[in-house]
Amino acid sequence: MDKLIIFDTTLRDGEQSPGASMTKEEKLRIAKALEKMQVDVIEAGFPVASPGDFEAVQMVARNVQNSTVCGLARAIDKDIESAGAALKDANSARIHTFIATSPIHMKYKLRMQADQVLEQAVAAVKKARSFTDNVEFSPEDAGRSDLDYLCRVIEAVIKAGAKTINIPDTVGYNVPEQFGTLIHNLITKIPNSDQAIFSVHCHNDLGLAVANSLSAVVNGARQVECTINGLGERAGNAALEEIVMAVRTRKDIFSVNSHIDTTQIVPCSRLVSSITGFPVQPNKAIVGANAFAHESGIHQDGVLKSRETYEIMRAQDVGWIDNSIVLGKHSGRNAFRTRLKDLGIEFTSEQKLNDAFAKFKLLADKKHEIFDEDLQALVTETHLSAEQSKIDLIYITVCSETGEIPQAKVTLQVDGKEQQATEQGSGPVDAVFKAIDKMVNSQTHLQLFSVNNITNGTDAQGEVTVRLAGQDGYIVNAQGADTDIVVAAAKAYISALNKFFDPKEREHPQRVNV
Ligand code: KIV
Ligand code: ZN
Repeated sequence: MDKLIIFDTTLRDGEQSPGASMTKEEKLRIAKALEKMQVDVIEAGFPVASPGDFEAVQMVARNVQNSTVCGLARAIDKDIESAGAALKDANSARIHTFIATSPIHMKYKLRMQADQVLEQAVAAVKKARSFTDNVEFSPEDAGRSDLDYLCRVIEAVIKAGAKTINIPDTVGYNVPEQFGTLIHNLITKIPNSDQAIFSVHCHNDLGLAVANSLSAVVNGARQVECTINGLGERAGNAALEEIVMAVRTRKDIFSVNSHIDTTQIVPCSRLVSSITGFPVQPNKAIVGANAFAHESGIHQDGVLKSRETYEIMRAQDVGWIDNSIVLGKHSGRNAFRTRLKDLGIEFTSEQKLNDAFAKFKLLADKKHEIFDEDLQALVTETHLSAEQSKIDLIYITVCSETGEIPQAKVTLQVDGKEQQATEQGSGPVDAVFKAIDKMVNSQTHLQLFSVNNITNGTDAQGEVTVRLAGQDGYIVNAQGADTDIVVAAAKAYISALNKFFDPKEREHPQRVNV
């Protein structure tokens, strides 16, 4: 069996999902989770895009030992130099450089002739090789490029030193048979194709990203670029969990092995969802809450008699274990710190640890059993509140009675000044949001509001996701967790507003015209 290299781009393409921006500390937490999962390559960002992105790639490069850390660069000297500098301290570094090769992109976006593009691609690969031997090249929009031209470009960049050739279906236009044939044709037609690993990077505009990637694997691709929960630009990228479990479950079809520790899939999915504020739909394959739930009596009966009647994978193999209680009211600071370390979370200062521990004690007073998921949510919140925030929640009183109009009194600190507002609403959440709006006139529009339980039971924390859109189309996502879901909703709303007003958030690559 050949090895299938798993290249995760949650921190780069995934971050290009509207509103899915992450701080560098959050990126590091995800990178550590990916490393624990034994992902081969972590694409940590696009260093030239902003100082924040540069620092994030640098931080991941300095702290990840067992996965290769990759930085993206257009086929331009300044991008490649920036990627080289950000990756300087990595144990294993890769530069991923790209330029578009489809007629439509060359004509309208690049305004370049095909021969100029080829020359620039070769120069970029040579430049990248001056920083590292591990260079990946992508002909952007390969899925709509001319085959003969693509072969010429790829042959030339392999000659220039590219070790991985990644074929992106940038706009998600291809269908599985066609995309598989493209990979087969490239590998058989390009004379030096044996000197590089062929990779694929599929977008999900037609819902075919995973199918296209798998078809490419059958036809010789040995690296798949994917993201946790299928996050990514527009409709997203191929979902890592689906690729990994498909090749593992159908070894008879795909003669490849990934080295992923599949038991880390669900914890990592939850972490990404909680940090980005993108909830996972319940019927999502592998990581959705219903992925292993059997509703129909016939199915339940079958599974009880023999699991294989209706289940092709074991829930435990992808990390759906029974939540085990990890900490409680009497746990000390050391036990708290040790458990967080096991989850890959380390605090940059004692102050941050103390803040998180104080929050943990408050939570443990309300909820006797604290699970890993509770700790993850608590840490996300501590990181957020540790930053200088414009708006802080001080106090909420809500009155909700059958037959009466709900009312909320909210006290906030806005720009250091305490303010209070009282409002009525169709429900307690509506009243709270209206009271907040009265004090913070953000002119934003609420695009998404959803509530999920973090763990099981009526004493579980509720996790609320809020998505806000500004009048200029700028989008932010945020989450808040609490055993009281009205408080969780207020926390999520305030966190989204803080992101909305934070100028650093606006430096995000999706907003910067590099
Ligand atoms: O979708 C795409 O083409 C990309 C490239 C940078 C690989 O993300
Ligand atoms: Zn992409």
